[in-house]
Parts: sequence; C-alpha cells; structure tokens
Amino acid sequence: MKKLCKWMLIVVAVLAVLAMAACGNNDDQQTDPTQTTDSTDTTNETTAVRTLDDIKAAGKLVMLTNAAFAPFEYLGEDGTIVGVDVEIAQAIADEIGVELEVVDMDFDGIVDAVKSGKGDLGVAGITADEERAQEVDFSINYVDTGLFIIVREDNTEITSSEDLNGKTIGVQLGTTSDIICTNMEDEGEAIVARYKTTPDAVAELSNGRIDAVICDEMPAREAVANTPGLIVIEEPLTTEQYAIAMAKGNTSLQEVVNDVLSRMLEDGTIDALIAKHMGAEETTAE
Ligand code: ARG
Repeated sequence: MKKLCKWMLIVVAVLAVLAMAACGNNDDQQTDPTQTTDSTDTTNETTAVRTLDDIKAAGKLVMLTNAAFAPFEYLGEDGTIVGVDVEIAQAIADEIGVELEVVDMDFDGIVDAVKSGKGDLGVAGITADEERAQEVDFSINYVDTGLFIIVREDNTEITSSEDLNGKTIGVQLGTTSDIICTNMEDEGEAIVARYKTTPDAVAELSNGRIDAVICDEMPAREAVANTPGLIVIEEPLTTEQYAIAMAKGNTSLQEVVNDVLSRMLEDGTIDALIAKHMGAEETTAE
C-alpha cells in the first residue's frame, strides 16, 4: 500500500512538471513572435521578420524602396539605385557589418512588405503618419518637409491651393498626396489622377493632360528643375516628417537605425547628402 502511494505521488509530480513546462513553452511563443516565424523559415523564407541577429547571420540588410523619387532614391548613371535614402541605409548596413541589398517596388506596397518581413527596412521618403504607425514601427524622423503643388508656368488659373476646385490633380498612388487629394475629391473639390510614380504624374502635367501635381517638396523641386515649363507654387500644403519603417517590435534593429540616424543628423551628414543629390543630374548647382 505504502509503495503504491509513493508511486502515485511520483506520477503526479512528473505530470505537474510536464504541465508547467508546456505552459512555459506557450508563454514563450506568445511573447516572442519572431521565434515562431523563424521556425517556419524553411517553408516560407520570404515572410519571416528578421531580428538584428538574423540580419547579421544572413550577412545582408534588405532595404525596400520606390526608386523614382529623387533626391531620396533614383536610378544613377549606371542604372543602380542611388540617393539620400540609399546612403543612409548603407551607413546602417556598415554599422551592422553586412551588405546592403536595395529592392525597388511599388510605393503603395512597401508598408505591407516591411510588415511581413519581405525586407528589413522601408526607406523611401516615407512620411511617418498615424495610420502607417499602426502597421509598422518608425525610426526617429530624419527629414522635415511638406507637400507642394506643381503647375505649368503658362497656367494662369492655379496660383494657390484655393484654385484647385474642379481641377484634375496628379499624385503618386498610396502617398500622402494621394490621401489629401482623395479627401478633396470626396468633398467634391477636385478630381484625382493616380500614377505609379511621381515622374509619371509630372510627365502627364507637362504634356497637358492634367492641371497640377501634388507631391513632396524636394522631389517637386527636382522635377521642376528637370522639366522645362513647370513651376512649384511656393505654398506648403502640409508639414510631414520622413522616417524609416520596420516590422513592429523589431527593437534590436530599431536601436541601430536610430543610433545611425541621430549621428547623421547631428554631424550634418543628412543635410550634406540632400545637397549632394539635389540637382545631381544638372550642370548648374545653386
Ligand atoms: N512622403 C510621401 C509619403 O510617404 C511620398 C513618398 C514617396 N516615396 C517614394 N519613394 N516614391 O506618402
């Protein structure tokens, strides 16, 4: 009898230990989602969010961008993607000690792609806004800017944002310009023409098919400098800040990104990069 009791006690103790271990495992999986995505890595290699250690192990950092947005990202003379954002991402890759891979894609897919781990960083002159911040985490801000209107210089009708009523405005799909113009359209104040890239919209303005383009300040100034017959209306429509997008909770990566950005902001590197890439294709510089 005594022996049987002892055995039962041992069995109960073993079961209790097993149950605790199982609970512990469950907790781990809930608090560390990167661990669970890691284990699916072999079956679905493109959709695992990579921590700083994963990036180090892979030897490369993947930047997602939309390379038609000079001075931030555009095609250089040899067809490679260059610009302010590329140089920032290169500095981050150097800091981590890995190679940089730059992937060009549609702007309106970048936030989702970062979220699902198709790339480590979204660096594309991305305005840090509240809606996007629900999907991804942002770095510190690295550029202060705003949206501006571009028109043909022979146009006499549009001299301020007040004159956009009833006009057709070109924007890049999925951008903050798209958001504000869509609001204007909903109020019956404008007609929106959406394009895959900002230069596509600018080309349509230049050939007279639309009345205005709304886009970010520095790309607007670049477009006007490179397209005869266009001007920027000197009235900022919004104030916006650019930040780098990362998957939510990827804090190890976010720390490095913020360290590099603060250093580059403090020592004037970002200003110097903007100056270097503005008018990069022109013969005269201001
Ligand atoms: N700042 C604007 C936004 O976040 C436009 C960015 C467009 N960037 C690009 N690489 N095409 O919506």
